[in-house]
Amino acid sequence: MKIIMLGAPGAGKGTQAKKIAEKYGIPHISTGDIFRANIKNGTELGKKAKTFMDQGLLVPDELTCDLVVDRIQQPDAARGYVLDGFPRTIPQAECLKDALDKLGSRIDYAIDVDVPDENIVNRMGGRRACLKCGATYHIVYAAPKQEGICDSCGEALVLRDDDKPETVQKRLNVYHEQTQPLIDYYNGQNVLRTVDGTQDLEDVFKQIVQILGE
Ligand code: AP5
Ligand code: MG
Repeated sequence: MKIIMLGAPGAGKGTQAKKIAEKYGIPHISTGDIFRANIKNGTELGKKAKTFMDQGLLVPDELTCDLVVDRIQQPDAARGYVLDGFPRTIPQAECLKDALDKLGSRIDYAIDVDVPDENIVNRMGGRRACLKCGATYHIVYAAPKQEGICDSCGEALVLRDDDKPETVQKRLNVYHEQTQPLIDYYNGQNVLRTVDGTQDLEDVFKQIVQILGE
């Protein structure tokens, strides 16, 4: 099963993608997590990506596409995967489609987690992230068992650099300009499914399971 998660920054793509990955036994591939891991490890890719990410801008397509096309051909992705945060532009979607065409494969579902902008700004200030394993928490809606510590790997949780209110607004603007057109793009390919992302995160997941099947 090959799935794309669509939705604004903070809509809950990462939260739901992790749950999908666990339930269906497929890898969760988040370009944001890959970039953050590279920043943490001080790689060249990380240095390049950071200048864009800190401003709330998209990392250029040429740094992103090859990375994902390579990742989806790894052995653990043979049975499928859930892509979170990619594609984010029409050229990225076209790049993915070309690669999948060559592999004789296609996307099964593009799930749009729909949340209005007003709800997003509230959520972001409370988010805490683990830069080691990519787990995401919220101080109210999805608190870790021990405050400030990742349940999965024990790493200290942080507020992401790009979760400051002014950067969140910038990311929302970038989303509406560059990423939202993908909703029509995948609708045109008959793979778009929309879920109401304003509900409790377990209820959002139930809607997704109804779409994907038990
Ligand atoms: P990325 O890491 O992908 O960030 P994003 O799209 O802005 O999305 P977020 O991770 O902020 O939100 P999410 O939808 O995953 O929400 P989450 O589940 O955490 O990208 C970061 C940056 O990297 C980009 O700005 C760009 O610069 C660069 N980049 C990445 N991919 C790229 C690409 N393909 N091309 C170019 N550049 C790229 O949830 C948010 C919070 O809400 C959490 O605290 C969570 O606990 C809480 N929450 C979730 N669901 C609910 C719910 N139902 N109710 C209440 N709270 C909830
Ligand atoms: Mg995320």
